[in-house]
Amino acid sequence: MQRKGIILAGGSGTRLAPITKAISKQLMPIYNKPMIYYPLSTLMLCGIREILVITTPFHKESFMNLLGNGEDLGIRLNYKTQENPDGISQAFIIGENFINNSPVALILGDNLFNGSDLVKKLKIINKKYSKNTIFAFPVNDPERYGVVEFDENSKVINIEEKPKKAKSRYAITGLYFYDKSVVEKAHKIVPSSRGELEITSLNKLYLAENNLNVEIMNRGMAWLDTGTFDSLNQASNYIRILEKRQGLKIGCPYEVAWRNNWISDEKFKESAVKFEKSGYGNYFLDLINEKI
Ligand code: DAU
Repeated sequence: MQRKGIILAGGSGTRLAPITKAISKQLMPIYNKPMIYYPLSTLMLCGIREILVITTPFHKESFMNLLGNGEDLGIRLNYKTQENPDGISQAFIIGENFINNSPVALILGDNLFNGSDLVKKLKIINKKYSKNTIFAFPVNDPERYGVVEFDENSKVINIEEKPKKAKSRYAITGLYFYDKSVVEKAHKIVPSSRGELEITSLNKLYLAENNLNVEIMNRGMAWLDTGTFDSLNQASNYIRILEKRQGLKIGCPYEVAWRNNWISDEKFKESAVKFEKSGYGNYFLDLINEKI
């Protein structure tokens, strides 16, 4: 069974108030694209074509206006809402019917990934449908995240959500690959002391079954956070610098769809016309004409 994808783009982001009072965080621009383009592109790069976008009831329409039913991208997009930010694991309960016993990948709508080996790695991981994989990335401020604890043989023995004192520098990123048992497991979780169905609780269930693969992301990868005003700005600068230098766009779902052969040149050209005045149009046409 093909793996399905979920983008969790619901509420929270309170650290970015007052902006997020008016606009969904995941629709805010990271340099030249809405934030959600990046996680969407990541799932598409894995080879995932059926995707559920979970938003707040208030922002659902904006997401639908932006992304539509996915036809332009050669994928199928579905939408559901989360009333309150009651925890990341709730995505699997909200998405139960959509998942329908398939393996599934979840990505947080505010997580950006980029890197040399990333696509190759993700494609391989995506194909291993019965394997559960999460990623750990070294950071300076692990206490803000889910943190991995290793034993002396570098085996993962525990994951702690926002520990007061982190047992390692390795934070768990917001990209998770699970088998079909994820829905059943999500139903078993109870809210944490902060009242959330934690993704860390779910990972611990897999860990207890000795059924969780924690991939370490190496130096060649970038995992960017967009949780604060400064990190938003840094993410924009990072994307801008790379794009200017390389002349290639990062996190452009139209380009991914075209490179995956999910849309024809004709369809890509239609989008080029739609985006004519933004610079995207010419970029798409250059790609088709093999100038890049
Ligand atoms: O970014 C990776 C980290 O994401 C992990 O290391 C942590 O284990 C995980 O708990 C999570 O931590 P955060 O503190 O970053 O989670 P936050 O509440 O900021 O939510 C992350 C994104 O998910 C954010 O864009 C809002 C969205 N979200 C969050 C919750 C709790 C929802 O859409 N619904 C929710 O119920």
